[in-house]
Amino acid sequence: MSEPKKLFIKTYGCQMNVYDSERMAEALGGQGYVETQSPDDADMILLNTCHIREKAAEKVYSELGRFKGLKADKPDLKIGVAGCVAQAEGEEIMRRQPLVDLVVGPQSYHRLPEMEAKTRAGEKALDTDFPEEDKFEKLKSRPKATRGPTAFLTVQEGCDKFCAFCVVPYTRGAEVSRPADRILTEARDLVERGVREITLLGQNVNAYHGAGPNGDTSLAGLIWELNKIDGLERIRFTTSHPNDMTDDLIEAHGTCDKLMPYLHLPVQAGSDKILKRMNRSHTADSYLRLVERIRAARPDILMSGDFIVGFPEETEEDFQATLDLVEEVRYGYAYSFKYSTRPGTPAAERPQVPEDKATDRLHRLQALITRHQREVQDDMVGREVRVLFEKAGRLEGQMVGKSEYLHAVHVGGANVTSGDLRRVRITASGANSLAGELV
Ligand code: 5AD
Ligand code: SF4
Repeated sequence: MSEPKKLFIKTYGCQMNVYDSERMAEALGGQGYVETQSPDDADMILLNTCHIREKAAEKVYSELGRFKGLKADKPDLKIGVAGCVAQAEGEEIMRRQPLVDLVVGPQSYHRLPEMEAKTRAGEKALDTDFPEEDKFEKLKSRPKATRGPTAFLTVQEGCDKFCAFCVVPYTRGAEVSRPADRILTEARDLVERGVREITLLGQNVNAYHGAGPNGDTSLAGLIWELNKIDGLERIRFTTSHPNDMTDDLIEAHGTCDKLMPYLHLPVQAGSDKILKRMNRSHTADSYLRLVERIRAARPDILMSGDFIVGFPEETEEDFQATLDLVEEVRYGYAYSFKYSTRPGTPAAERPQVPEDKATDRLHRLQALITRHQREVQDDMVGREVRVLFEKAGRLEGQMVGKSEYLHAVHVGGANVTSGDLRRVRITASGANSLAGELV
């Protein structure tokens, strides 16, 4: 038998890319590839790229440049670029970096096996189409190997919202939902293989409207179906848009026992003038009222968010409104970014905020967010949570898992294994995680 070929995938960006990389590895598994952790012994290197903020393309080119030596030593080595930079740059990648053999956009991964074969025949392979067929259905099904207790499952892709700063509608295309039965089949398969927590993924996951047995299914409808799967213990979803937070989804947070009390609901800014210019189609006040309703349904829910500072024409007063909103919500987690110009998006042409001002605002916002994050975490001390254990900790005999609220929890000297779901009393709060003991 010949040695299996080795595949090295490097993943950048969001969780959807993590999921896509897994599926691409499975698809290439059918071509005789096994994954390797190092580019040095690989027969194929695949960079799964992200284009959400600036310099992404430049980073990809410099990373590619580093493979020159490897390719010189091993002319059979194939190098591919996938993900959103592949979608945005297309053929340009091969022009600028001739060592690239393959460029594949996020909607064409099911064509990867044919594309790989083409590169083996000495040709270049490029596909950045938005084909009609369901790429996930065409991708080889997941092999039946056992796996860890948590998994991502993409249910929806693309976005029709066109926020003025964002490239996603251009790189991932229009909003598409996968049919509910396919998602349920995939979820059952994951559970059979040891998965106990599934995070449903979509750029606009709560806009999900996949075909179901009785017409379109909402995200809440899908969650209720997943809730029936024996052996599945936890359901999460990300990322949501405030305007798609429907009543049934809010209600599910109060009534669906497997749906975890954690919600990532980006608002981006706190000034109505800026929100309008961002084309967000909600106001700070409508967002705050929405958070109130969600908290009424599930009082202990941990809120998480995304923020952009230094969006074109943001004044100090606008920025202050963002700080006010953060004060009011008290996020358990929040991610904040300096606005980054994306060519081709509407905001790219507008007057920019000077770099030093944006940096200063980012630091101030992050200080506030970190303070809240820490307070929310410290409030957990003395409380009882349920921890889904995932892996061994750094210390001897220690295991780490996640609470309902997605806090990492370390437990020492306990007789638990990966996949166990146990009650834990929180005893201490550290810089980025909690410690506790089994109840
Ligand atoms: N500049 C900075 N941050 C951005 N995001 C999206 N586009 C940009 C941009 N051009 C942020 C948003 C989004 C998160 C995934 O990335 O906050 O919610
Ligand atoms: Fe981008 Fe806005 Fe769509 Fe989110 S909702 S993917 S920020 S355009």
